[in-house]
Amino acid sequence: MTRPDSHPLLLCFGTRPQVIKASALLSALRAREQTLSVDTGQHYDYQLNALLYEQLGVARPDHFLEVGSGSHGEQTATILHRVEALITQVQPRAVIVIGDTNSTLGGALAAAKLRLPVVHVEAGLRAADHLLAEEINRRAVDAMSAVLCAPSRRTAARLEEERQPGRVVMTGDVARDVLVRNLSLIPSSNETAERLVPGGARFAFATFHRAELTDNPERLQATLTAVGQLGLPVLLPLHPRTRKVIAGFADRTLLPDTLHLLEPLGYLQSIACARDAAVVITDSGGVQREAYWLGTPCVTLRAETEWEETVECGANTVVGPDALGRLPEVITTRMAQSRGWDRDLLGRGDAAERIADAVQTI
Ligand code: UD1
Repeated sequence: MTRPDSHPLLLCFGTRPQVIKASALLSALRAREQTLSVDTGQHYDYQLNALLYEQLGVARPDHFLEVGSGSHGEQTATILHRVEALITQVQPRAVIVIGDTNSTLGGALAAAKLRLPVVHVEAGLRAADHLLAEEINRRAVDAMSAVLCAPSRRTAARLEEERQPGRVVMTGDVARDVLVRNLSLIPSSNETAERLVPGGARFAFATFHRAELTDNPERLQATLTAVGQLGLPVLLPLHPRTRKVIAGFADRTLLPDTLHLLEPLGYLQSIACARDAAVVITDSGGVQREAYWLGTPCVTLRAETEWEETVECGANTVVGPDALGRLPEVITTRMAQSRGWDRDLLGRGDAAERIADAVQTI
């Protein structure tokens, strides 16, 4: 039964992981009421967003803002400006944003300045580094949201403690919904791994894209060297920026030949690799959670993780950039440990339904 409201909802996203989460959100929202989607275009060539749309069976966005890359200020300002113009044109009753990117902040700010309710999906995550780009974005968006959709009990409790003005709803993590919905589509044979690591040999699956790492080429090089010396082949699909930094290395021959540098993978191939790997090594929040749900041990190469539950339950170990020397030992220990952790700490895969229900109450 769809809501007879002449003002639609507007779902705003712009980066690859957000396109993936939008796939689950859109179907739940559209089952209840008219929902328009807008892709800001923050990510444009990152493994053909078109392929993601296709693989996940999502309709093309209703609006595409072609914002592209730029400095943080320029990119956020362009998103703010263009989403504001779109809101003025389509007159939504609420704007839904996801996560902590510049598209999240720009979209939320455009709505809040027009006094429209903002719904923040993935609210309540916190990092100790309060000037991290994503931390600035998520704190600002939480503060201006009418509904804060928390992915876990811990994030919901934190938002209550912070006395955020909006209403806090514990919904679970929509990334799990996407995984659950697509499990049957994930190929049981893993083309990528079979091509590069024949004979079913063990391999590590790695992803690195965060600015803290790629803005420091020496740190990136040291990280790749350490990961390449683990005695395992490493499959490493590259974010376009990571690829650009590696291309600028003075001597690429220094990279260990156990590293297989790949084009970005589609969602289903990426999940197949995380599932089949002996260990996942990453700086991505999304890949950490996918490993946790798939039962693959994870090592997070960052100073901290916002997904503390994955560490506490024994699925994930954080290794800071200054402790790369510990990496071989941590990985060996991680691979030997039991994989029987509780996989329901971030919801059970019904977050999109809960979020859509919460949106009905605005
Ligand atoms: C953004 C998010 C980050 C999220 C990541 C997911 C912010 C502040 N950061 O980071 O939290 O984890 O998306 O993937 O919003 N580039 C391309 N092609 C593209 C996109 C980017 O070449 O399609 C290159 C450009 O050099 C660009 C750089 O990557 O300047 C950074 O891209 P940007 O979208 O600004 O941030 P991400 O690092 O992708």
